[in-house]
Amino acid sequence: MKLKLRIWRQAGPNAPGRLVDYAADDVSSDMSFLEMLDVVNEGLVKKGEDAIAFDSDCREGICGMCSLVVNGVPHGPDRGTTVCQLHMRRFKDGDSITIEPWRAKAFPVVKDLVVDRSAFDRLIAAGGYVSINVGGAPDGNAILIPKDVAETAMDSAACIGCGACVAACKNASAHLFMSAKITHLSLLPQGQQERSGRVAAMIAQADAEGFGSCSNEGECEAVCPKEIPISNIARMTREYVRSLLTSR
Ligand code: SF4
Ligand code: FES
Repeated sequence: MKLKLRIWRQAGPNAPGRLVDYAADDVSSDMSFLEMLDVVNEGLVKKGEDAIAFDSDCREGICGMCSLVVNGVPHGPDRGTTVCQLHMRRFKDGDSITIEPWRAKAFPVVKDLVVDRSAFDRLIAAGGYVSINVGGAPDGNAILIPKDVAETAMDSAACIGCGACVAACKNASAHLFMSAKITHLSLLPQGQQERSGRVAAMIAQADAEGFGSCSNEGECEAVCPKEIPISNIARMTREYVRSLLTSR
């Protein structure tokens, strides 16, 4: 395939950015999207030009590092899929593809397609953890947890912290990300000790980081590669009201 690429280039956090056109020839439909960018970069390096900076690590949908907006959609056109798992067979010969970084005030551009997502680390540091000493790994049946509760908690724990939910939201809200952590920990016995403080601290930190609030658009759920449901945000709101009532 021959493709026309328009890629966001930005030399640094304070440099002006712009979309630059590149031609990608000899693209195999078997390549992953990131392999296609690797090939484009090899061509740039051979010509002595600066390679396009983009994030990736596992390239198998589990680490949350890849973060590209493809034709306006975080992680691209396939639902429930990270951009590292997107394949070029999804595109046709002659297609134009625009590639941009996550765009949110709380995720400033570092270079080209790489953004700084350390704001998520600070949200987790504010409350997304269990700090009690739970000792060694207990026997599987030592703490009885109903199967449906365990499954809901583990489905929420599937969040990989990629930030696509923020990038898709017109308010740049981190509510889906936070609600995944809060749902995961509030459902399990080990998360009860810090349950009230957790939600209040995470929401206060999200405000301080510049994330917006939720207006129930549902864009976050639509692009989430782990299909975290927006109903988690309703649970987070209930947890927040509960924390206000129980902290008095
Ligand atoms: S909720 Fe989904 S989109 Fe948001 S950070 Fe977690 S995995 Fe990524
Ligand atoms: S590179 Fe790890 S999830 Fe995409």
